Amino acid sequence: MSSRAPDPQHLSDLLEISQTLGTSLNLRAALPRVLAVLEENHGALSGIIVLKDDEAGDLAVEAASGAGAPTTRTRYRIGEGITGRVVQSGRPVVVPRVSREPLFLDRTKVFQRSGRNELSYICVPIKAERRTVGALGAALPYSRDRGYEQEMQFFGVVASIIGQAVRVHHLVEAERKRLLDENRMLRRELTERYDIRNIVGGSRAMQQVYEQVAQAAPSSTTVLLRGESGTGKELVAHALHYSSPRAKKPFVKVSCAALPETLIESELFGYEPGAFTDARSQKKGRFELAHRGTLFLDEVGELSPAIQIKLLRVLQEKEIERLGSVDSIEIDVRVVAATNKDLEEAVRRGTFREDLYYRLNVFGIYLPPLRERKTDIPLLADHFVEKYAADQGKDVRRIATSAIDLLMSYHWPGNVRELENCIERAVLVCEGGAIHAHHLPPSLQTAEVSGTLPRQSLKDALAAHERDLVLDALKSARGNRARAARLLHTTERIIGYAVRKHGIDPSRFR
Ligand SMILES: Nc1ncnc2c1ncn2[C@@H]1O[C@H](COP(=O)(O)OP(=O)(O)OP(=O)(O)O)[C@@H](O)[C@H]1O
Ligand SMILES: [Mg+2]
Repeated sequence: MSSRAPDPQHLSDLLEISQTLGTSLNLRAALPRVLAVLEENHGALSGIIVLKDDEAGDLAVEAASGAGAPTTRTRYRIGEGITGRVVQSGRPVVVPRVSREPLFLDRTKVFQRSGRNELSYICVPIKAERRTVGALGAALPYSRDRGYEQEMQFFGVVASIIGQAVRVHHLVEAERKRLLDENRMLRRELTERYDIRNIVGGSRAMQQVYEQVAQAAPSSTTVLLRGESGTGKELVAHALHYSSPRAKKPFVKVSCAALPETLIESELFGYEPGAFTDARSQKKGRFELAHRGTLFLDEVGELSPAIQIKLLRVLQEKEIERLGSVDSIEIDVRVVAATNKDLEEAVRRGTFREDLYYRLNVFGIYLPPLRERKTDIPLLADHFVEKYAADQGKDVRRIATSAIDLLMSYHWPGNVRELENCIERAVLVCEGGAIHAHHLPPSLQTAEVSGTLPRQSLKDALAAHERDLVLDALKSARGNRARAARLLHTTERIIGYAVRKHGIDPSRFR
């Protein structure tokens, strides 16, 4: 029988089924269409597709056709009825006459409905990667000269097309789940990293910054962050986003200075295929990517006049057009902009549009330079010691008084970033448990640079250093002179001498 030429109707049915499954990303929606083809073209009176539910350990009806068919919520036990047996054994079953088959449960009521006219039932396993994952069953009108061998082959091919689709579906699902998990994890990490509590500083100036962040975060008001380089503008931009209702949506950054003018427009607004010579496919702009989230326009003072006017329009109309497109796309984006430039001066000189300036500066937050909040220096320094000691796996815990003095007297033109780099390096070169003045870069050591270090004699400098070392050792030894002496490779007598000379009270450290 199998040597017969393939039935052209069978071939066109298979083509239709494979197209249905191949073009749909939604397996659940495509399966009923497979049954519809079997019903309409192949004369099936009813059809059913069940798939294994590994979690529940049973079979779920994914699609069923024919009046009185079970709903897709119906479950079968593995091994129950013909369908359950096919899944259990992984082998097809053909029942030429259902009236003679006690295993035929007639769950689809097809036999009952047909007025107990004789029916044939075919059920084949659905396999994915050699594992039986479900079954396809169909009832056909009984006919004495039906070629069951050929029917079984036909249904076998349909089942293998379904199996392929299930496999792809599983792969896509697994990947989707992996991405979701990863996304959730990364988001948690980001939220923790950019939590406002990670912004260090207890100075009045910083307290004002925290207050302003707390005021601005709940709304979608445009915020303009001002401040010298390295004062923490980007940090605050993140904190604004992650403490706002948009925290679960994207935070998208655009470095306005880093991109050439020709690129920035397509970066911001995206483009359609053919918008320019290289534009083969569509590309979403950063505004679109930031939908429902926050767009961070860093170094906004660097934008060219041509882009300034486009940006102004988007901020006013809250919609964008991709390059090469006339359709506008509505966007819901909170804009946070930052600059270390004197924008007012730029407006006066005519290089920055006044109307854009007002659009951006709805809520201004000023980050004061480090030299104007010196009380934050020890806090920040400790914070970075902890961070880089952990990063580098070193047991550095403290900053010696001498080093603190140096840090306090320096004027920090590079602000917090410079302090951070300086501590990172100090932790790297530090060989003990504490950072000393000599671990700090030479730029901090010269009195000329800081202008505030008193000129010392060699004798005084050595004495100060000795005092630092003894203090540190006593701190580590919790005031125990013998242990402090061992730490400094000296005798208890010398320590005792230094304690008296420098007027140190070791009991302070107990
Ligand atoms: N208050 C702070 N607490 C902790 N870390 C800070 C603080 N301020 C700044 N930093 C750190 O200093 C570095 C520089 O900060 P950031 O990049 O936010 O500065 P910026 O103002 O954007 O500088 P630029 O204008 O040069 O881009 C970052 O590593 C940031 O984490
Ligand atoms: Mg920055």
